[in-house]
Amino acid sequence: MATQIKSPIIAAQDIVKTFELPDGKGEFTVLENINLTIQHGEIVALLGRSGSGKSTLLRILAGLIPATRGAVHSSGKLVTGPNPDVAIVFQSFALLPWLTVQENVELGLEALGVAPQERQERALKAIDLVGLDGFESAYPKELSGGMKQRVGFARAFVKNPPVLFFDEPFSALDVLTAENLRGEITDLWERGIFSARSVLMVTHNIEEAVTLADRVLILGANPGHIRGELLIDLPRPRDHNEPRFEELVDRIYILMTNPEMQVQDVTPPREKKDDMRFPPLPHARVGGISGLLELVDERGGSADLAELAEELRLEVDDLLLIVDAAVVLDFATLENGQVKLTDDGRAFANADILTSKDIFRKQVMERVPLIQMITQTLKSRKSGSMRAAFFEDILDEHFPADESERQFKTAVDWGRYAELFEYDAVGGWLTATR
Ligand SMILES: Nc1ncnc2c1ncn2[C@@H]1O[C@H](COP(=O)(O)OP(=O)(O)OP(=O)(O)O)[C@@H](O)[C@H]1O
Ligand SMILES: [Mg+2]
Repeated sequence: MATQIKSPIIAAQDIVKTFELPDGKGEFTVLENINLTIQHGEIVALLGRSGSGKSTLLRILAGLIPATRGAVHSSGKLVTGPNPDVAIVFQSFALLPWLTVQENVELGLEALGVAPQERQERALKAIDLVGLDGFESAYPKELSGGMKQRVGFARAFVKNPPVLFFDEPFSALDVLTAENLRGEITDLWERGIFSARSVLMVTHNIEEAVTLADRVLILGANPGHIRGELLIDLPRPRDHNEPRFEELVDRIYILMTNPEMQVQDVTPPREKKDDMRFPPLPHARVGGISGLLELVDERGGSADLAELAEELRLEVDDLLLIVDAAVVLDFATLENGQVKLTDDGRAFANADILTSKDIFRKQVMERVPLIQMITQTLKSRKSGSMRAAFFEDILDEHFPADESERQFKTAVDWGRYAELFEYDAVGGWLTATR
């Protein structure tokens, strides 16, 4: 697939996009110097934080809005209006409410000048493909969110375009519906129904990107720029439990949570002995973790991630760091967007301070190899102390410099709370507490 050198179907050169600020207060740069290509038949995932300009970039590549500077070529032709090579599935379903399912699906074909008879046949096939057989004459208001998005997919598939764009098509759906539809669309893919197609997919879900994509592009923000790309050269179908799969997810995760880091700084994992592997700790403070657990506990022990994020006015990515930490500590599980407390999580959320420290200590000693290693090393010393630099050097073997510093800070925060060790930042010493 992506490993073959082919001519690109879409090529964007030095794209800049600015928007006018209201009241003539100048302009605002959303995208800066974007260069990218999409090859025939390859699946590219675009990852980036909210507001980094992903949707704007898709719209420019699809010819729906013009770039301020730079050029897009598709099949070798300069794009100056709607790009005929592309169909988009939008986050908001964008159906016309006064048209039936079938009419909505046929709409794009009408614009392409396809004759009515063929329009109808192709639409029925596409509607069937997305599992909406029997709903051809329903109106959008009669459909659930998941069914509306099925129409969104049918409307894109029916055009049979060489390139499909997916702009977070599952993010407006409730988690179960999203999971269900995502599974079905992935199935269609794996059955080879779209094998000749190129895909550019925007997603927040790193596992989804590593599962589906040949290549992952990471977009940085303010203004949006391409921080780098990673090739996902894993055999298909992809096994989530394979160490290389997990390593790629870890690398992308580290990149996404460290906006200043360069892609090449997150070195490909070198050959490590298994007992020397420190999975990256999510950078969350104990206060944040216990706050989250208390909040979820108050809601009866489970909560929807997106709703929590909205209520706390946090980006989902930021809240995810805290949730990830709770998962690492086995205080919670995260499945289909639902955070659920475990028994330990519930006990921790309801414990007095001393008991909560005991529970926390037990969890980190069982589940966090880095803190185990630090604690055991300190205990093995007569003085109970070691220079922090010793551990920082070890971490440097596993992580790029900035990341190893963060890993160290997080380990110190957790280890202190668990009363396993103390850190004297002035002298640079770690000392065992017990
Ligand atoms: N028509 C517009 N006029 C002014 N500003 C805009 C316009 N469209 C987008 N922006 C701004 O451009 C920035 C990028 O928006 P965009 O929707 O492309 O981000 P995104 O990466 O898709 O975010 P999300 O993950 O939330 O969908 C935002 O700050 C947004 O407010
Ligand atoms: Mg968007």
